[in-house]
Amino acid sequence: MHEGEVKRSQILGAGHYVPTKVVTNDDLAELMPTSDEWIQQRSGIKERRYIEESGIGASDLALPASKMAVERAGREMSDVDMIIFATLSPDVNFPGSGCLLGDKLSLPGIPALDVRNQCSGFIYGLSIADAWVRAGAYKNILLVGSEVHSTGIEFTERGRDVSVLFGDGAGAVLVGESDDDEKGVLTVKLHADGSGAEDLWLPAPASREIPRLTEEMMAAGLHYPQMKGKSVFRWAVQKMPEVAMEVLQEVGMSIDDVDLFVPHQANMRINQMVAKALKIPEDKVVHNIQRYGNTTAATIPIGLSESYAEGRLKGNVLLAAFGSGYTWAGAVVRI
Ligand code: UT7
Repeated sequence: MHEGEVKRSQILGAGHYVPTKVVTNDDLAELMPTSDEWIQQRSGIKERRYIEESGIGASDLALPASKMAVERAGREMSDVDMIIFATLSPDVNFPGSGCLLGDKLSLPGIPALDVRNQCSGFIYGLSIADAWVRAGAYKNILLVGSEVHSTGIEFTERGRDVSVLFGDGAGAVLVGESDDDEKGVLTVKLHADGSGAEDLWLPAPASREIPRLTEEMMAAGLHYPQMKGKSVFRWAVQKMPEVAMEVLQEVGMSIDDVDLFVPHQANMRINQMVAKALKIPEDKVVHNIQRYGNTTAATIPIGLSESYAEGRLKGNVLLAAFGSGYTWAGAVVRI
């Protein structure tokens, strides 16, 4: 190790925030042809949260989540020396939501990096935070996953396959130096395969088109996410167990060593199939998709924060995610 390098980084605290507006499946069934039965059967989702009014962005949801994470870590906000913000729904196209959050947290001069890796964004961010802390580049990195989906989905028959799945919310962790050689972020593995990019994407507005947005694009609904659900499902149930085994092997652990599994929350059926493939007992798996739907980059930090509040965030914690890109990632953290 070089001078300034530390052996391990650690998740020092976790927080989350979801908007107060609860939207049930029955509420959605009033807007478009869908039903509580269909949504629950296919996805496990019962309700999700939406922002209460116009003007609330991903950085606004991230603000209380960040405060909770820093407080639970026993640190001051002024200790934060880097912000990493994972989102596919930034407040505005540019600048990044990390810059907006830094301003809201009164952290002038503190660098802010936005990560664009969708459902895997939090674990990609964890990999960066871990490497920076271990290299001695930064000491207390605020890592956020936050999304506002409700303003960008289509409440019609055409958009119903996507719009029933997604919700708004934010999670955050503080990543800093581990004070215990045995504990901390033990490994993180990242993957991507852009051949599946168009299976889940937002085609418009697009900088590669002249003009970026046309009436034709809007009439075709290309400014709403497009998803080939069955393909995403098939990839997810293959890649999540694969990356989970990859990270466990890397640290010499078996499934029996896992105390808590916090998977990305895209579909309850995906997570049940992943848990079954891995032979992880249900009581070690975190599910909150019933209450929040898919909050993309926020699902895992929300899961960590709720597990902390329930006293479950201990021991060997396995993380795995799969989503748009395609991207997928896994991590083992010993708390
Ligand atoms: O973070 C990653 C993000 N995304 C995912 O992980 C999504 C992965 N995919 C899935 O979760 C599932 O594919 C869905 C939940 C999206 C869909 O489930 P499915 O079992 O693959 O259904 P399907 O797309 O084959 O649709 C079955 C039927 C279709 O009607 P027909 O063609 O059989 O008449 C759809 O038009 O259900 C219809 N349908 C709906 N019906 C009621 C699609 N969306 C809805 C809806 N309500 N919201």
